[in-house]
Amino acid sequence: MTAVFPAPAWLVGCGNMAGAMVEGWRTGGVDLAPVMVIRPSGTPVPGVKTLSAYPDEQPRFVMLGFKPQKLDEVVPGLAPRIGAETIVVSMLAGVSASALRSRFPDAKAIVRIMPNLPVAQVQGVTAIYSADGDREQLSQISQLMASLGMIAWCETEEELGVIGAVASAGIAYVARFAEALAKGGEILGLRPILARMVAEQTLVGTGAFAAATGNHMDEIARQVASPRGTTEQGLAVLDDPEGLQPLVDRTLAAAIRRGRELAIEADRRD
Ligand SMILES: NC(=O)c1ccc[n+]([C@@H]2O[C@H](COP(=O)([O-])OP(=O)(O)OC[C@H]3O[C@@H](n4cnc5c(N)ncnc54)[C@H](OP(=O)(O)O)[C@@H]3O)[C@@H](O)[C@H]2O)c1
Repeated sequence: MTAVFPAPAWLVGCGNMAGAMVEGWRTGGVDLAPVMVIRPSGTPVPGVKTLSAYPDEQPRFVMLGFKPQKLDEVVPGLAPRIGAETIVVSMLAGVSASALRSRFPDAKAIVRIMPNLPVAQVQGVTAIYSADGDREQLSQISQLMASLGMIAWCETEEELGVIGAVASAGIAYVARFAEALAKGGEILGLRPILARMVAEQTLVGTGAFAAATGNHMDEIARQVASPRGTTEQGLAVLDDPEGLQPLVDRTLAAAIRRGRELAIEADRRD
């Protein structure tokens, strides 16, 4: 089924993340004619009408794409424009559906999403959660998000937060790992530029290999590591009980902790 925006559709704030979604929709051939970007700078977003103030109309779809800390700056101007026909879709990390509902009491539905940057290449992961909204509306949101890559409907907001830590913030963690590989190569004598290119292509190649073969990451690791070989020695370091897993566990826990803090801050302002 083709993804279609309810008209009129507003994207309130369109920086890195919402901009990546627009790029993905454009790449996927989704009709952006009903879409309007509204951002204070008015900086044009290619292929979409861009304004610096709200137009005089009632939107049927509003996507919140600004930083969570800006919520209470945005609400006084936006809330009166949200009517009984408006679906509010929020990508604000850590801002709960109930905190959004209290700010947009008239909205038809509140939907939380947690996308990641490869939505721009239609290779994204988008977690979705909604406590309200009817079947038809939610299926329209599903189709819009599914046109950007994988979607994961969440049963709880906690689940959405975890997917945010693994997939949205996860892009940064995987990028850091590739950077660490590059630094390691440099320490072992590679020229910095070569170390970086080799590590980055290894990351891209691993993703392409996994996608093409359908192999899970543990199978891929086994495919590379022959018994008593060099890779196996390296994996033994990563697989040590004090190795990679506890480091990743602490990394995700820190992100989730920050999500909870943001939620408490947003709830306190209710
Ligand atoms: N980056 C990610 O990977 C990622 C992943 C998942 C979720 N998120 C969520 O996405 C949201 C945006 O993050 P980002 O990284 O895209 O931020 P960003 O690049 O800084 O973009 C923020 C956007 O908000 C706009 N804005 C600022 N003040 C505003 C206001 N008063 N009214 C309307 N728009 C306003 C800015 O407009 P101007 O440019 O005109 O100033 C800009 O378009 C955050 O809530 C974050 O939690 C991000």
